[in-house]
Amino acid sequence: MYSPRDARSFGDDAPDLLAVLRCPRCGGALDLAAHAVACAACPALYPRDGVIRFVDRAAYAESFGLQWKAFPQVQLDGEQLADSERRLRRETGLEPADLRGRLVLEAGCGMGRFLDVVSRDGAALAVGVDLSAAVDAAAENLGARPNVLILQGDIFRLPLAPGSFDVVYSIGVLHHTPSAEQAFRTLVPLVKPGGTIAISVYAATVKPGVGWALNMFRRRFLRAFTRRLPKRAILWWARYAVPVFWVIDKVPVVRYVRYFFPVLLYRDYPLSWSVLDTFDTYATELESRHRPKEVFRWFREAGLVDIDLLDSDDGWVSVRGRVTGG
Ligand SMILES: C[S@@+](CC[C@H](N)C(=O)[O-])C[C@H]1O[C@@H](n2cnc3c(N)ncnc32)[C@H](O)[C@@H]1O
Ligand SMILES: [Zn+2]
Repeated sequence: MYSPRDARSFGDDAPDLLAVLRCPRCGGALDLAAHAVACAACPALYPRDGVIRFVDRAAYAESFGLQWKAFPQVQLDGEQLADSERRLRRETGLEPADLRGRLVLEAGCGMGRFLDVVSRDGAALAVGVDLSAAVDAAAENLGARPNVLILQGDIFRLPLAPGSFDVVYSIGVLHHTPSAEQAFRTLVPLVKPGGTIAISVYAATVKPGVGWALNMFRRRFLRAFTRRLPKRAILWWARYAVPVFWVIDKVPVVRYVRYFFPVLLYRDYPLSWSVLDTFDTYATELESRHRPKEVFRWFREAGLVDIDLLDSDDGWVSVRGRVTGG
């Protein structure tokens, strides 16, 4: 178990942390209480046990709690692989110089793979918020770091003060909510004047050609069944079936049998990544896909400037922009 860090994080720098937080029910300021934060304006009390918990139900995001607790470290950067850092840079354009000494928010932090990089880049404070029990994995991975704060909260009712952050980003999250556009709109007011916002969502159009179109159709078709199955059954399937297909994939011709099953295989990554992403893809309740021009429009309509479409991996639409002023 991780050791709860909230006592320390609400130490000398307590006023700064509390300045960033707001009661999601009434918008009031929050004060420190025993094992909780308390609203100064209404009776709300939010528990803190290493994570400050503003919601007690993960709703449609329940599968992610299971996912990140089952695979808390698979995608964390290590000596062998630094894919999270590669993706953070590519999908947000954020370099260490943009993050050092800054107040940064990740919306939908999961087990903290990107927050890990932001914290190592020297952010003054890296706040991760997630709706699901993934926050427990994030706290376990990063909770001991002095510049990390993990919150369990909902993007649609964020427990955060407007205009608090130099940088807000979200990778692989908004398309798993009931409305990616609405979710994006809730994030914009959190950015300080002159600050940056970057999001990365699933692309509606991937690559030209029949191969990708077939793959998308297959994914949609299979997901129509799998997302209704008990999450633990899909976890079991991912854990035990994916290694079998991993072996079959090495056999010529026979290997194509995998296209009839809900399985995702990445040849260039360790097997555990395929197990994790098979669960991620087929257990997730909600999934939407977006076109670059659509995401560009969200940024334009939100009044953002310096909007840029980033050169991210196929399958992703990654856009960043800046709030005017500052
Ligand atoms: C595919 S995971 C991505 C996590 C992390 N960004 C990453 O790429 O590793 C999507 C995450 O979004 C979170 N999520 C979905 N809806 C949310 C909401 N309304 N508020 C906060 N987090 C949400 C889920 O709980 C889940 O951990
Ligand atoms: Zn309140």
